[in-house]
Amino acid sequence: MTSMHKHYNDLVAKINQWDHEYYVLDNPTVSDAQYDQAFRELLAMEAGHPELITPESPSQRVGAKPIDEFQKIEHSVKMLSLANAFSLEETYSFFEKAAKELDRNPESLTLFSEPKLDGLAISIHYDHGLFSYAATRGDGEVGEDVSHNIKTIRSVPLKLATDKPPGKLDVRGEIFMPKAAFEKLNQLAQQNDGKRFVNPRNAAAGTIRQMNPKIAAERDLQFIPYGIGEYHGECVFKTHSDILAYLSALGFRKNPHCYAFAGSLEAFAENYRIMEQARAKLPMEIDGIVYKIDELALQTALGFIARSPKWAVARKFPAQQVTTQLLAVDFQVGRTGVLTPVARLAPVFVGGVTVSNATLHNMDEIERLGLCIGDSIEIHRAGDVIPKVVRVAAQGEDRKPIVMPGRCPVCAAAVERTAGQAAFRCTGGLSCAAQAAEHIRHYASRKFMNITHLGTKLIELLYGKGIIKTIADIYTLKPGDIAELEGCGEKSAQNVLDSIESSKTTKLGTFIGALGIPEVGEEGAKAIARHFKNYPAIAAASLDELMQVPDIGPVMAKNIVDFFHDEKNRAIIAKIIAAGVSWQDEQGDAAQEQVLAGQTWVLTGTLSVPRNEAKAVLERLGAKVSGSVSKKTSCVVAGRDAGSKLAKAESLGVKIIDEATFLQDFY
Ligand code: IVH
Repeated sequence: MTSMHKHYNDLVAKINQWDHEYYVLDNPTVSDAQYDQAFRELLAMEAGHPELITPESPSQRVGAKPIDEFQKIEHSVKMLSLANAFSLEETYSFFEKAAKELDRNPESLTLFSEPKLDGLAISIHYDHGLFSYAATRGDGEVGEDVSHNIKTIRSVPLKLATDKPPGKLDVRGEIFMPKAAFEKLNQLAQQNDGKRFVNPRNAAAGTIRQMNPKIAAERDLQFIPYGIGEYHGECVFKTHSDILAYLSALGFRKNPHCYAFAGSLEAFAENYRIMEQARAKLPMEIDGIVYKIDELALQTALGFIARSPKWAVARKFPAQQVTTQLLAVDFQVGRTGVLTPVARLAPVFVGGVTVSNATLHNMDEIERLGLCIGDSIEIHRAGDVIPKVVRVAAQGEDRKPIVMPGRCPVCAAAVERTAGQAAFRCTGGLSCAAQAAEHIRHYASRKFMNITHLGTKLIELLYGKGIIKTIADIYTLKPGDIAELEGCGEKSAQNVLDSIESSKTTKLGTFIGALGIPEVGEEGAKAIARHFKNYPAIAAASLDELMQVPDIGPVMAKNIVDFFHDEKNRAIIAKIIAAGVSWQDEQGDAAQEQVLAGQTWVLTGTLSVPRNEAKAVLERLGAKVSGSVSKKTSCVVAGRDAGSKLAKAESLGVKIIDEATFLQDFY
């Protein structure tokens, strides 16, 4: 093997290992920059030397062209489905019957429980350890070749992680879209006026059953195996858990929350309780629990009936989608002043509880659904989250349109829609009660005024009693106001007042951020302070002037102008300043961030970012960047293949950091 060939193979193996750490183990070990650099190097090598390309190269995940049609594929081992059980009794009696047939006691059986992943079944074939093809379940006997899309899923290894690959292996499992990926996809679709998917299962199935692998590659699908079909190899498996352990060793993801237990009624009940609780916290949708007899010899002895095994059953969670009537729509004012429509429903039982409210997100969503009051609607409840309205099932006879109120239902200030945004907001600002408690919390938080002893609970108590109505009232608090509250003694009252006093000296950017102007976060506020340098200039800035500030767009600029034009806000700020809150005006950009002033740094080895860029970053922070290492060097950044300078730094005991740390801490 030539040295280039070896370098290429090492690169492929390295990227595949990083993918495994990221997509299978959820434990990334390299920075994005390092990863991207290696990937670019791989692509460059492959472009120059196409003869090097191996099938397991990560570049081979997305094929060049969409496919023309789906090829039919016959499954060598049928793909079965599972019998369903809807209660504890049904689940238990399924295994009682199985135990009877085996002439055993249900309690003597080892059962294995796995989350029932809500996606679509796939069979993935490996020949001598290399990905060969993947097929959908179809009717269980014949499916469709969807290799082009399955190969894009990075938790599907292109090469099995073993030196002794089986001649043939058919891995069976579920393709699904994690909840976060589903939300992201639908948000994007909404922005692009595209088609939204109803749930993650439809999104996963829709993605796999389309022709273009580029689309599949963008959608963050995952794969988790739950068994095997055809297998020609050396391993002898005794139990289902042996098979899962083998698949995990080959490089596949593990299903979370799998348990082995003895099949008593109590154990089933306990397992269901655990899984019900685990469900809401899982990153993917699950629609039940699959129980399997662990011992393979017993599975074989029981065999199949119709299309499902007699050794496994799916205990389904209660229905999550039901139809009910939309009685009214109320508007709730959130912590940032956004008005959110909330559907009031004729109460229905869904997902194990009775619900009478559902979220509607915003007015665009109402329009998209074509929703009116009086309609019969389908709602969906997933985990513990508030139910969502999925669609109009039938239009009501006497339907009434849903209208956004012109005035805030809490403070009666005008409601406005910011151009280009879906949200409508109350313009009441700091004087709207719905927004006030959150404003106070934001103002006092560690990131902003850092009033250490004024926590969320105390703020809610003080706000609830009407003692603090706006952030200015913080400064008129008296020891008696606090000491009176439940659980607060004189000592803690004094601590609160002391922490208010010591928080009064702040920075201009911090104070602007603390005001909680919509869309203006910590960084935006700092940028404004650096640009205008003093408070009067900020309060008087025009829209055009604000747009000159780097990173300030039109929405933020308008929010700032509106905020300072509001008399009530200016009065609150005047009171705060009168109470003694103060800051030093900004000097300008440079003085601000010189955290490395007086230090000498050395860059060595190959970096994934341009060297002069890294140098400029260090210099901006006040460091001098030198070409040679000495006792006086403050820190050495060691890139790839660093040589003599690194060795010298080591021998002199100079501080050394790797590139990933440098990028993370200073970039
Ligand atoms: S075992 C012999 N385990 O549920 C049948 N299936 O309703 C082997 N599913 O088609 C299936 N999670 O797509 C099994 N942990 C799991 C599962 C699971 C989801 C799906 C699978 C199957 C369907 C049956």
